[in-house]
Amino acid sequence: MKTEIYQKDSLEQAAKQLQQEEVVAFPTETVYGLGAIASSQTAVERVYKAKGRPSDNPLIVHVSSVEQVIDSVTDFPEMAQKLADSFWPGPLTIILHPKENLFAKAVSAGLPTASFRMPNHPLTLELIERVGEPIVGPSANKSTRPSPTSAQHVLDDLDGLISGVVDGGVTSVGVESTVLDLTSPYGPVILRPGVITKEEIEAVIGKIVDKDDLTVSEAEKPKAPGMKYRHYSPVKPVVAIAGEQALWQKEMDQLVAKGEKIALMANTELVAAFKDVASATYTLGEPGDITAMNRLLFDGLRVLDKSDSDIILVEASPKVGQGLAYMNRLEKAAVEYIQ
Ligand code: TXA
Ligand code: MG
Repeated sequence: MKTEIYQKDSLEQAAKQLQQEEVVAFPTETVYGLGAIASSQTAVERVYKAKGRPSDNPLIVHVSSVEQVIDSVTDFPEMAQKLADSFWPGPLTIILHPKENLFAKAVSAGLPTASFRMPNHPLTLELIERVGEPIVGPSANKSTRPSPTSAQHVLDDLDGLISGVVDGGVTSVGVESTVLDLTSPYGPVILRPGVITKEEIEAVIGKIVDKDDLTVSEAEKPKAPGMKYRHYSPVKPVVAIAGEQALWQKEMDQLVAKGEKIALMANTELVAAFKDVASATYTLGEPGDITAMNRLLFDGLRVLDKSDSDIILVEASPKVGQGLAYMNRLEKAAVEYIQ
């Protein structure tokens, strides 16, 4: 199949393709999503097939209005309204109980719940409006590849396998949304960290828990099924490194002694310090710029994976605030974390 590239002036064609149960990728502020109308089992199955996604991993339903969520769920708690008022459109996904038989079965992948998000991208909000109903949107990468932050990344993975991609430029946030479960018996639980932090959510709805901090057994912890799969893996091994330049120096020396070609992804200072030792570099911004680190992580992994090197060394971040989102992705991509 030929994969069309749509722009603002051809959104109507993209919407038509979606209405005809085809798969069209779309931009958001986080990463590109793989769109299909949520009410069609045929369309949703095409998404799983194109991605190569395991069938037990549910999809996020993307909406262009809060009413679309209210119309889709059995109960829209006050908390959900407050969250929507504060963070939508934006990188927060909330899990609620859907009405029966509204969405294709494959959307929830066997769970009694469904997840919802209003993405903050003008083209996609207009696209959903034109379609006239919610669309699913897992990240538009092949399963296990880094999430796509540009239309080109989508084409690198899915050209010829999907009907089109709406090109909305490079995404601004770079890591996927925070996923918050509002149906858990433990109260609201963060299942996946994102750039909307626990502290920001608590400022709106009061105390919540992060699933990693729940003091119940692993088996009892609420889960996002997708978090158990291998993720974001470039072909080359990735090693995360924290801390001081001295620690980097030691690792570099060992790898050089073994004759390994090193690709380096780190802040301006580390890149400047080691650029003569590395065979490829990718700069993640000024030291400590976590916004830049999140925005550039997936692009950097894709770029360095294509470089002539044996191993990719990536700067780690402290696990606080938005650093939790970054480290969640980096640890999934990495075979080792040196600290
Ligand atoms: O920023 C994002 O969230 C992007 C953009 C495209 O919107 N989408 C995205 O979708 O990251 P995906 O499918 O790659 O990740 C969704 C995560 C998965 O880990 C999935 O298991 C979890 O959310 N999830 C979805 N629905 C769920 C549900 N009903 N219960 C528990 N976890 C759910
Ligand atoms: Mg994904």
